[in-house]
Amino acid sequence: MHSSPDNLFIGAPEEKIFFNAAGVAPLSVSASETIRIAMHDLACPDYNTLNLLFESYEKVRSDIAALINGAPKDIAFFHTCAAALSQVAFGLSQAKELSSENEVICFGSDYPSNVYPWVDACRRSGATLKLIDAEAGKHRTELLCEAITDSTKIVACSWVQYEAGEILDLEMLCDAAHRVGAWVVVDAIQGLGTIPFSLKDLPVDAVAGGGHKWLMGPLGQGFLWMSESLRSAIEPIMVGAMSYGTPDDKADITLSLKKGAAGLEPGSPMMLHVLGMGASLRRLLSLGIDEVYRHNLMLREELRLLLKDYGFDAVESSNSFISPILNVKASLTKVQRMSGHFNSHGVVHSVRGEGLRLAPHIYNSKSDVDRLAHILKGFV
Ligand SMILES: Cc1ncc(COP(=O)(O)O)c(C=O)c1O
Repeated sequence: MHSSPDNLFIGAPEEKIFFNAAGVAPLSVSASETIRIAMHDLACPDYNTLNLLFESYEKVRSDIAALINGAPKDIAFFHTCAAALSQVAFGLSQAKELSSENEVICFGSDYPSNVYPWVDACRRSGATLKLIDAEAGKHRTELLCEAITDSTKIVACSWVQYEAGEILDLEMLCDAAHRVGAWVVVDAIQGLGTIPFSLKDLPVDAVAGGGHKWLMGPLGQGFLWMSESLRSAIEPIMVGAMSYGTPDDKADITLSLKKGAAGLEPGSPMMLHVLGMGASLRRLLSLGIDEVYRHNLMLREELRLLLKDYGFDAVESSNSFISPILNVKASLTKVQRMSGHFNSHGVVHSVRGEGLRLAPHIYNSKSDVDRLAHILKGFV
């Protein structure tokens, strides 16, 4: 077992060093234990067991609400973050809230799940998609703000950019978007669980997230928070028994959709995934996201200094916000050689954008950086 400030980490082999929380993080010990117990319960799914599982599921909804400082009733679970974003994009085009008079703004270089749903929603509705290019050295939030016009209906973006970790100034963005009556739809998967986030300070209209990165849940789990005004504007693209009632109710076509975001969940919950993610989340919340952020930034800085000695410069943020994601750039050949060297020594990382991405999390410690320093000695 790896040593870490909090023994959240599952028993992954000692020889691995996981610096890939921005890709897929290891499951926490508490997540895998919770899933094991829930699987045992599902082997005997009687009335009481199911009730208890559903109670635990609702508890995770409250924990996600605590993570973002929102209300549990505004949170819905989906099978991926992409599905959560699609529910918003297609829900708006289906409700004719997007039309040929409107513009949708996003970065062409954003994670594809923040681009494709909007491309398709614009194609269906006739709205104009304004794809913004990220210019080197230019503040990304300013680029989005400059693109906003009276016709803008949606600004869709990642809070933390997945390639190099740049954080957008959501307060500034919301200010500019709300002045023209536009909604701000944010994918926060690269920040939630590692950077403090509060809806009280960042008045966005929708926040999507997912479990398998900084929240250390199983791969394939998404969720969505939406403001009441945005939720009442969309028509869900997926509905089922749970959108209107319970599995015990007969179909009744006079019913209206359930109030609250739970009406966006069409069928039986992804129980194991949600409970697993919830177990990791509770550990992170009990440590305090401020503390997790401090720890992860400290490791990022150690890694930055180490990689600098080998001629790798970090991609710098164009503003004063710094995320724990470190992207170190060099020539393509050097990045590829370094990546191969890391792979052969069990250093789990990603190659993204201009360079090599390292994303330390709470299960890493200074000793992982020391081990990396040792591994780098063999890099020529
Ligand atoms: C910004 C961003 N959004 C979404 C995802 C993927 O989430 P999902 O597979 O749950 O849709 C990623 C994964 O790399 C990401 O970086």
